[in-house]
Amino acid sequence: MCGIVAGVAQRSSIVPALLEGLKRLEYRGYDSCGVAVLQQHGAPRRIRTLARVQALETEVRAADLNGSTGIAHTRWATHGMPAIANAHPIFSGDQIAVVHNGIIENHEALREALIAQGYEFASQTDTEIIAHLIHSHYCGDLLAAVHNAIRVLKGAYAIAVICKDEPQRVIGARQGSPLVVGLGADGAFLASDTFALARCASRFIYLEDGDIADLLRGDVRIVERDGGPVVRDVRTVAEQPANADLGAYRHYMQKEIFEQPLAVARTVPHLHSLDATLFGTADPVAFAGIDSVLMLGCGTSYFSALTARAWFESIAGIAAHAELSSEYRYRDYVPQRGTLVVPISQSGETADTLAALRYAQSLGEERTLTICNVAASAMVRQSRWAFVTQAGPEIGVASTKAFTTQLVALFLLALTIGRQRGRLNAAQTAALLRQLVGLPDALRGALAREPQIMAWAQELHRKDHALFIGRGLHYPIALEGALKMKEISYIHAEGYPAGELKHGPLALVTDAMPVIVTAPNDILLEKLKSNMQEVRARGGQLYVIADANTHLASAPGVRLIWMPDYYGVLSPLLHVVAFQLLAYHVACLRGTDVDKPRNLAKSVTVE
Ligand code: F6R
Repeated sequence: MCGIVAGVAQRSSIVPALLEGLKRLEYRGYDSCGVAVLQQHGAPRRIRTLARVQALETEVRAADLNGSTGIAHTRWATHGMPAIANAHPIFSGDQIAVVHNGIIENHEALREALIAQGYEFASQTDTEIIAHLIHSHYCGDLLAAVHNAIRVLKGAYAIAVICKDEPQRVIGARQGSPLVVGLGADGAFLASDTFALARCASRFIYLEDGDIADLLRGDVRIVERDGGPVVRDVRTVAEQPANADLGAYRHYMQKEIFEQPLAVARTVPHLHSLDATLFGTADPVAFAGIDSVLMLGCGTSYFSALTARAWFESIAGIAAHAELSSEYRYRDYVPQRGTLVVPISQSGETADTLAALRYAQSLGEERTLTICNVAASAMVRQSRWAFVTQAGPEIGVASTKAFTTQLVALFLLALTIGRQRGRLNAAQTAALLRQLVGLPDALRGALAREPQIMAWAQELHRKDHALFIGRGLHYPIALEGALKMKEISYIHAEGYPAGELKHGPLALVTDAMPVIVTAPNDILLEKLKSNMQEVRARGGQLYVIADANTHLASAPGVRLIWMPDYYGVLSPLLHVVAFQLLAYHVACLRGTDVDKPRNLAKSVTVE
């Protein structure tokens, strides 16, 4: 992952823009950060820290680091542990400085070759190879040196490079990892995304794979892989609200959990008609002829695919598959005519899902529809059609409102396809839409359970393990509950379909094992009750999120929190809110860094 930002300012110091950019890129990783600048004469000056960008800023001020040209980086460690030596910018001698996002796959062979040439390595990073390679090719023209160096790189990279001998120049290059050029009133910039540059640029160029950008004295020139000049579209991107105000909340995750009623309400469009144009098609019946849906996603976004699979089957009567992007992209997948491929992503930049989308396209899948929270993202641009969810910026690393709004989009898609296939009549469609429109209120009802959930958290935060179980439409909610718990509280948690317990995991159940249940009042309730009995019979402690009228009763070893009445096929959206709150409060009690959990990053742009 990692975030990079760089630039050449024409009048002022580049440093404030770099620091502001880093703050906005911290979601891409926060294992370390650093900045290097060039002044008119002399070697690049660099400051690096294992602390957060805020601390870097203090150090930079104290050192009075300034200069018109510079590069900066926030790291998510891949090669080499978080350590100052591995923090970027990475130098080759005192001449070349590089920041890098991505992974160089042939780094071992290149490292040996560079050592044979006499280079000494000061870090464990693959990035140092890039720095030395550029150094080895440098003969007075940084663009030529970068161009020659990247020829031998295999893997993914977005880089920004400066050189002591060319104090008003930054070279950027990309292959596989995102990189944009920003054009502003006071110079030209490079960054991993437009958001990083929102304060200093309003016009952007999305570089394509193989592009090299030459920022010389604030002017921009782009060349392609073969060295020939190329003109890329310049787009104006409106500044995304940073939404950085926490208000009364302690963490962004908490704020974002409570924003869900609003996010869902915004995502449900004012419907005049329910047809394919809702998803960016020109043709209202663009989905005619589609006979299966293939959803692709990672992590939480994959769980929204798993949840929606049941809707496509039961509401739209269409075959539906959910695939993990990282697995799908390397399968010998046999494409089928008539498939609608639906990548799902909060960021729209996740490397595996983007690659999965491209893989589907390479197999001849033409009908691609991305569901995404970021309108200008790579996936939206790559896809034929798109539905942009209106969750607003999600800052907490753990996905919450992105998940519920993805489900809204997928539900609308299921209704649209169901209607088009004649599976739903007007009255059924209207009833389901009414339910969707009522969802924000129902979510408020679920959020109101917070005090009871906090009481559970008091008990659960001392545990080392937890099992989350559910059935049918709610099985993916158990998976999502376990993911939330493990990623922010660091409690080992597993999600299981309740009917599978007896095929293995029941062996784990003792009175030290909390089993957390999502129990909607649906047709599988009686089966689920039997599974809960199996847990109790082994001494397992049950924590049950149950709908009203499930006729479950609190008892020794059985704690219950009642949800509002069963909310039909949209019930998973309510139960997941309870699990989000549970993970959040357990994490707070354990004192973890809720918004920036260890080892993770918000946008996963490496595979
Ligand atoms: C979990 C979480 C991750 C993301 C996953 C995909 O809380 O946030 O599992 O869901 O990394 O990210 P997107 O949706 O941006 O493709």
